[in-house]
Amino acid sequence: MLKRISALVLAGLTAMAVAACGSGGGGGVSGSDGGGSGGGDDAITMGFSQVGAESGWRTANTKSVQESAAKAGITLKFSDAQQKQENQIKAIRSFIQQRVDVIAFSPVVESGWDTVLKEAQNAKIPVILTDRAVDSKDTSLYKSFLGSDFIEEGKKAGQWLVEEYKDATDTVNIVELQGTTGSAPANDRKEGFAQVIAAEPKFKVIASQTGDFTRAKGKEVMEAFLKSNPDIDVLYAHNDDMGLGAIEAIEGAGKVPGEDIKIITVDAVKDGMQALADGKINYIVECSPLLGPQLMDLAKKVVKGEQVPARVVTEETTFTQEQAKEVLSTRQY
Ligand code: AHR
Repeated sequence: MLKRISALVLAGLTAMAVAACGSGGGGGVSGSDGGGSGGGDDAITMGFSQVGAESGWRTANTKSVQESAAKAGITLKFSDAQQKQENQIKAIRSFIQQRVDVIAFSPVVESGWDTVLKEAQNAKIPVILTDRAVDSKDTSLYKSFLGSDFIEEGKKAGQWLVEEYKDATDTVNIVELQGTTGSAPANDRKEGFAQVIAAEPKFKVIASQTGDFTRAKGKEVMEAFLKSNPDIDVLYAHNDDMGLGAIEAIEGAGKVPGEDIKIITVDAVKDGMQALADGKINYIVECSPLLGPQLMDLAKKVVKGEQVPARVVTEETTFTQEQAKEVLSTRQY
């Protein structure tokens, strides 16, 4: 009997050792929290560095990643960078030290990642970019980039404006609330919008400043815009939260959002959709935060060493006020 038990224990230990060697390309075993590989083929630990909690979009994205990891049986080591690149770099280095099986992160800004990504590559830990891109020339530093086409989002915002003002002959004065300086969505949403409106000289961006993707900063910057520019026709905000903050500023200045000043935003989170349905926002370009399920699928594949697409673009749509009223009750985030 004792002999049989010993044989079983030995077989179990051997299986665990084999599984640990085969996991993640990094041979990683857990940290003290019991995470990490070593339990078999599908025991995966993901280190995930999130940008922060700056917006409704971000909260929904965090929830999607956490719920999807739990559903996929992936142990998630989650780190909130509070909108600071240095915190993300620290988190990634800590994931490397803990020898997680895969690292995923949403880079707060586009530049300055090559060194730490090289460290992950040297440690043979695959990296997946999610939501935001990096501008590294060496694309072998990450396996895949899952997220929206932010240039396309900016273009959609511009196309709506061109159509809305197609009969206007006067100058259309636009103010722009940009996202976090240096971030991919701020750079690309600005660029896509500018490309489209450039075709018509009547469109003039009279002020453009960062509101850091937050409601509070959106309000503050819009208040300053309103003080120095009496004739604002349109606000283009790179996300709903800044647009919602700006609505408070516009109302505070005695103007009617959606009428005196037309508003275009990006994201389509519930609060934004409510303001759209209420007529305070005129148009929203969707940016889906529900990236969790696709991220976990990609993670499982890269850990197994399977080929994955270098770029996975999120499917998205746009909403008018009428469309917002129709879908509001079933909106997931
Ligand atoms: O990277 C996605 C952007 O980040 C969202 O549009 C914005 O709300 C968030 O903060």
